[in-house]
Amino acid sequence: MTMDLHEQARQILRGNDRGGYTLPTHGLYPYQWNWDSAFAAWGFATFDIARAWDEFDTLLASQWDTGMVPHIIFHEVDPSYFPGPDVWSTGQSPATSGISQPPVAATMARLVWEMDKAAGHDRLAEIYPKLVAWHRWWHEVRCVHGPAAIIHPWESGRDNCPDWDIGMDGVDGSRVGPYTRRDTGHVDPSMRPHKEQYDRYIAMVQFGVSVGWDQRQIVADGPFLMADPGITFILLRAHADLIVLGEVLGHDTSEIEGWAAQLRSALPEIWNADLGAYDARNLRNGRFAGVLGSGALLAYVADAGNPTLDEHLIRVWDAVSYGIPSADPQADIFDARRYWRGPSWPFLNALIALGFREMGRHDLDARLRRETAQAIAKNGFAEYFDPHDATACGGANFTWTAAIWLTWAGQDLEHAKGAA
Ligand code: GLC
Repeated sequence: MTMDLHEQARQILRGNDRGGYTLPTHGLYPYQWNWDSAFAAWGFATFDIARAWDEFDTLLASQWDTGMVPHIIFHEVDPSYFPGPDVWSTGQSPATSGISQPPVAATMARLVWEMDKAAGHDRLAEIYPKLVAWHRWWHEVRCVHGPAAIIHPWESGRDNCPDWDIGMDGVDGSRVGPYTRRDTGHVDPSMRPHKEQYDRYIAMVQFGVSVGWDQRQIVADGPFLMADPGITFILLRAHADLIVLGEVLGHDTSEIEGWAAQLRSALPEIWNADLGAYDARNLRNGRFAGVLGSGALLAYVADAGNPTLDEHLIRVWDAVSYGIPSADPQADIFDARRYWRGPSWPFLNALIALGFREMGRHDLDARLRRETAQAIAKNGFAEYFDPHDATACGGANFTWTAAIWLTWAGQDLEHAKGAA
């Protein structure tokens, strides 16, 4: 008899646990990643609430003095990963990367706290000021043009989605010098970014190093600056959650309310009327990316949907069978198995579904949960899936896929049985 999927999911979390922090998966991602950790905490909370809070602690322990929480924390150097701490060269201890990642931590902390308020109160009180400082950093450093901006596609967490193509075009990757990628040694190269793209990723890191990771200077003069709808919506949502948590702890939350109002008022700047959807925008020249994808659809998590966007949502979703695709299946750039250019990502589905439930769209939540559960029940706890046939893609035994099975996708096992 095959092992119960819940038990498998718990074993994946335990197996990826490095004692206080969790790897996304062995091999491909041997460090602590920012938003992966927040989802890991949510998963741990279903069976070990203290361990869930530990995950936030280790993540926030590497917060920079500026308030930024880095996207990777290199706890123990592992030569199988590139670009490692020597390439980022940020001078932090433990070593970290020099960019951030989508700030889902406050949202996940609220979910974890709600699962056991008594156990969570003091743990929450400890991390609350750090979360506020991180949100402040986003506003002071990355939201200077209105919406949340990113200085590297990796900061978006949706690494090589088509949203960034127009910004990447302006980056010169011809002078990065020789290096050896490691990702293509772990997974099928056809699922990973092309070399020309990778050269540009490294060029952007080298620029950061050249200015000593002065984030304001990178925003002002760096090779890449784009408004990210995904982070804008995640941050908006996280502000709302942080306000609730602040009130519980008896803090004055007016500063956060101010940020939330400011960010919401910037949403028209990322609405592409020609596309009829939110869209990424190159802040160096004002141009829109002109592609519909996961960033726009994260609007639902921040209660920023509208009837025009709803039509796109249903259109792209109806075109596939296993969850919401990360790019428009009817667009030229769609690629069902290549990183962020089409596949369905279970953890992102879980995030969007959070928004559906709050809008009272339990029908959409149920559909998304069923399709996500079917993909996992069919082909395991993969990093992501081909949205047409649920082929498992990327790394296996993935932390966030296991976490969202325990918290959301696996809630109704009847759904999963339909796929067996
Ligand atoms: C990839 C993903 C990013 C994630 C990381 C670890 O870089 O694009 O979102 O955090 O892998 O899972």
